[in-house]
Amino acid sequence: MTKTVLKNQIINKAYIITGPTSGIGYATALELTKYGIVILLGRNQRKLNQLQKAIEHKGYKAITVLCDISDIKSVRNAAEEIMQLGLSISGLLNNAGIMPSKASKNAQGWDLTYATNHLGAFALTEALAPHLPDGANVVFIASAIEDPERKPAKVMGMKGGRYISTEASARGEWEAGGTKMAGVDAYATSKQCILAATLYFARENKRLHFNAVEPGITRGTGLGSGNVPPIVHFIFGYLMSIIPPFSKYSSTPEKSAKVITKVLTDTSGKTGIYYDEKGEPMLGSTLVLDHNFQDRVVSETRAFLSKFR
Ligand SMILES: NC(=O)c1ccc[n+]([C@@H]2O[C@H](COP(=O)([O-])OP(=O)(O)OC[C@H]3O[C@@H](n4cnc5c(N)ncnc54)[C@H](OP(=O)(O)O)[C@@H]3O)[C@@H](O)[C@H]2O)c1
Repeated sequence: MTKTVLKNQIINKAYIITGPTSGIGYATALELTKYGIVILLGRNQRKLNQLQKAIEHKGYKAITVLCDISDIKSVRNAAEEIMQLGLSISGLLNNAGIMPSKASKNAQGWDLTYATNHLGAFALTEALAPHLPDGANVVFIASAIEDPERKPAKVMGMKGGRYISTEASARGEWEAGGTKMAGVDAYATSKQCILAATLYFARENKRLHFNAVEPGITRGTGLGSGNVPPIVHFIFGYLMSIIPPFSKYSSTPEKSAKVITKVLTDTSGKTGIYYDEKGEPMLGSTLVLDHNFQDRVVSETRAFLSKFR
């Protein structure tokens, strides 16, 4: 089939991105315009419209889909809406994520961090996967915070993912012995689960390609900003990324966008790879790499979500 090009945009391909209205997602949405129509999936229509306008102003095409990724009903409706667009989807980027310091609940009464970062991304992927064409890429934005042995996280006193079960996580319960930093056990566990699911999907589904990216300590994004004093956000969001040993892992939204876009638009068929902030393969925690753990997370998540039809 000949490629139709609108300005420099290929319009017989489309890419879905969740959480495109801020930080890494915003930069990635702009980068992705060069590769196809961008389907912007977010919870704030005003922000989505602004981004769509900015993309159209550059001569590219974007479509907005309103979706609260923490709300399973909203996720399933959004998947339906996307399928009805009738576009050939070359890639799905599960980027939306939060790290609040104060626990709260989603529409179904589940832990908001876990529902957003794991359950929502998982449900969206499961709803769309059967409709994606052969060879499409599904990418998840993970976080090395899930690994208790990861140097920068360890230095800060983080203890990695604290998974007990999907039911327990949805209730906001984490394995004992976690960190004293508020909200971090929930965040680390949600990222532990979505990385385990990525590696499981890659083993289970050979028709599509499933990979994860750890974007690095990325300064200047909104992550963790809502519930902490500005000084704390400045320390974690900026200062930490420029002082050793953290600076080695640091990135910017624009740099992360390039790495993520490369993985999302890759046509070489790689699957089951976890990339670091430089786009090099890296390893997750020992637990996340364990097939039994991956199997357990996926089967428990499927069983849990199947109760909410
Ligand atoms: N920054 C880092 O150092 C770092 C490191 C490792 C991993 N990550 C991961 O990178 C991803 C992007 O984070 P970021 O740093 O770019 O943070 P960010 O600037 O806060 O962006 C988060 C995005 O997710 C969206 N979002 C949050 N909750 C949502 C919901 N319920 N429904 C729909 N969209 C929702 C936000 O929408 P609104 O604009 O409406 O708020 C925003 O577009 C996250 O998965 C994060 O965990 C970041």
